[in-house]
Amino acid sequence: MTSNGVTRQAKPDPCSFIIFGATGDLTHRLVIPALYNLAAARLLPDDFCIVGIARNEMSDDAIRESLMAGLRKHATRPVDDGVAQHLLACVSCIQADPSEPESFDRMAKQLATLEEKRKTTGNRLFYLATPPAAFAPIGEQLGRVGLLREDNGYWRRLVIEKPFGTDLASAKALNADLLKVANEHQLYRIDHYLGKETVQNILVLRFANGMFEPIWNRNHIDHIQITVDEKLDVGRRGSFYDATGALRDMVPNHLFQLLSLVAMEPPARFDAHTVRSEKAAVLAAIQTQSQAEALRNSARGQYTSGSINGPIAGYRKTKDVEPDSNTETYVALKLAIDNWRWAGVPFYLRTGKALATKRTEVAIKFKQAPFAMFQDTPVDRLSQNYLVIGIEPAEGITLQFNTKVPGPSIAIDGVEMKFLYKDYFKAEPATGYETLLYDCMIGDNILFQRADSVEAGWQAVQPFLDAWKAAGNDGLEFYAAGSDGPAGSTALLEDDGRNWRKPS
Ligand code: BG6
Repeated sequence: MTSNGVTRQAKPDPCSFIIFGATGDLTHRLVIPALYNLAAARLLPDDFCIVGIARNEMSDDAIRESLMAGLRKHATRPVDDGVAQHLLACVSCIQADPSEPESFDRMAKQLATLEEKRKTTGNRLFYLATPPAAFAPIGEQLGRVGLLREDNGYWRRLVIEKPFGTDLASAKALNADLLKVANEHQLYRIDHYLGKETVQNILVLRFANGMFEPIWNRNHIDHIQITVDEKLDVGRRGSFYDATGALRDMVPNHLFQLLSLVAMEPPARFDAHTVRSEKAAVLAAIQTQSQAEALRNSARGQYTSGSINGPIAGYRKTKDVEPDSNTETYVALKLAIDNWRWAGVPFYLRTGKALATKRTEVAIKFKQAPFAMFQDTPVDRLSQNYLVIGIEPAEGITLQFNTKVPGPSIAIDGVEMKFLYKDYFKAEPATGYETLLYDCMIGDNILFQRADSVEAGWQAVQPFLDAWKAAGNDGLEFYAAGSDGPAGSTALLEDDGRNWRKPS
């Protein structure tokens, strides 16, 4: 979906695609494979160049070779050599390091020469595939040498990937630093969840169908569950993860994207400003809890050794993780949204690593029907009415409801009405970044996070961070790798007379 009137399928304007961190994992694993898919679909500009910025000198040939090897390894479909070579022929490498400001002056000149040769005019997209600590220093240098100034009608855009800060204060500081050198409309904060078709479909499900919106509120909905369970353990990311934990890694970004799409008010128009304002408004309406409330309304766990398709070592045994670390690898939260639509409707969120199954879904639990009519039916046989938006691995929508079991007596059983994307649509396997990169080039920022949403997200999770920091190991539970997570997560709902949905 584009929200700025550009027809999908139109080629973007000529531009330079400048990647900081060009030798890194993100560039090889996602950015280049996604650009390749766009090239194969003829959705890259005719006049285009990719400029890899590396901290150490590297020849054009060397970077092309390394990107080609990455593409062969990570491409989502068989690589057509003609398309790949055409794409990689437009790659050059320039050395620059934000700790050596003069390298940016040099880079600006080299870039201008290259752009003249490649006829990319002056449109530039700077993609920061770097560790987050480099965002502000690179932004500062780009600003200082004038590369972000939008002049002569050309656009200049800066793309960054989560994490946007590590708490409310650092997120505010990062936003402030970037806004010193660029305007908000130039900043594209990527959350890869918004590249997922099923996530984008939440808006369509809610607002392109007349039957859901009238019941999408506290009168009909009992509560909402958002689950992002992963089988993956922390693996080789110990150093990043131990300083981050499940809450920071997943909640203010991915889970809140899901929450905001499910809970936002209907936008008056389908344009980036209106949609992003509604998303920011609902995040700002999440009740800020006291530290005592945060402890009551959360569970956190850490995995110990176990088995998931083979033995898994406990989290504390992971390379670069402190042996007595109290970093959580699982979190469950109960949140409230203080507005007219959601007053009294709890939102339960959970996410964790090294769990029994991989499952990402939003489950909307409707209020129970009055039982009077079915007094002789065992209540536990009345299945719950859920509308489930499946994001992974089953992409689709399921409605659970009760039906009569055929036969002379009244017996009731729960059944499912199921829509699966794969049954209706044939999609080419993709990285999930294609739409996002294309949107950056055509200037549609509807799928990107605005500074106010980022800050509202951190505002909501800050009490949990503070409360857990103060509590240290107290309250940290342990769960075996390959299990369903800590007991406290189950208790969080059971205390309210509810349960996490069990997939059928
Ligand atoms: C990333 C997190 O942002 O999202 C990872 O840093 C996590 O820890 C990943 O595994 C999950 O993404 P997905 O698309 O597999 O649900």
